[in-house]
Amino acid sequence: MEDNETITIIKSRRAIRDYDTSKDVSDELIYRVIEAGGYAPSAENQQPWRVIVVRDKKIQEFIGQIAVDRTVQLFGRATPRQELERRLSYIESKVSLERTIDILVTGQRFEYIKGRPETNGAPVLLVLAVDQTHVGNSQATLRGTGGVFGWSSPRHAVVAGGMMMQNMALAATSLGLGSCVSSVQLDHFDDVRAVCEKLGIPDPHWVPILCLTLGYPKFERTQGPPRQTPEEIAFLNRWGQPFSKKR
Ligand SMILES: Cc1cc2nc3c(=O)[nH]c(=O)nc-3n(C[C@H](O)[C@H](O)[C@H](O)COP(=O)(O)O)c2cc1C
Repeated sequence: MEDNETITIIKSRRAIRDYDTSKDVSDELIYRVIEAGGYAPSAENQQPWRVIVVRDKKIQEFIGQIAVDRTVQLFGRATPRQELERRLSYIESKVSLERTIDILVTGQRFEYIKGRPETNGAPVLLVLAVDQTHVGNSQATLRGTGGVFGWSSPRHAVVAGGMMMQNMALAATSLGLGSCVSSVQLDHFDDVRAVCEKLGIPDPHWVPILCLTLGYPKFERTQGPPRQTPEEIAFLNRWGQPFSKKR
């Protein structure tokens, strides 16, 4: 069966980290991307998300620098080189592998978040925050009880936020925009606080979980890291039992 338009868009979305800085993204397109994001499902349709559109270069620089610093810490110091090589083993060319490792350990890979024209940075940075008190903690009936019947689902906000983010990334692709989801600048508690302070996000009620850069791709990038096949990731009826379309 041939891929339809939606599946083609899903498969062609790539993480874009080099942007054509001669082209800005119009507010109209940003609006459309965010609007598509808002059509994501959420538990009880509570839509527990807010998006901050960051065009301010100083704020982009601030958030991007956190990403660069954490990347140096994570990949440059904490992760052994052997482990980096293992994770990137899908890169066949030795030259490309060396270059990828180099830009990871020096943090250069995440310079694009700073939005600097001279390094092909993204003109727009979206910061997605979710309502931590969404379903599970927010309802008066659940508060302080540990949830009805013992369950409580603060994770619903993160799940819904992730779906919202994916909608935005796919909408961006469909509009000819490049995008890249990123989290490294929001993985550490200290960084979450710093970003909240910078952007005036009323934490801990609202918490930023992901960013999305937007811009026109500098280079065409069709080839992404390889994906596992359904045979590798799906089971039939019970864990471990193979699922395949050949029945
Ligand atoms: C939750 C999440 C966090 C990510 N964090 C980062 C990040 O901090 N920096 C970055 O450049 N890319 C980040 N990515 C992008 C992934 O590296 C990328 O999507 C993945 O390697 C697959 O490549 P593709 O999107 O081109 O198919 C993140 C993606 C997700 C979903």
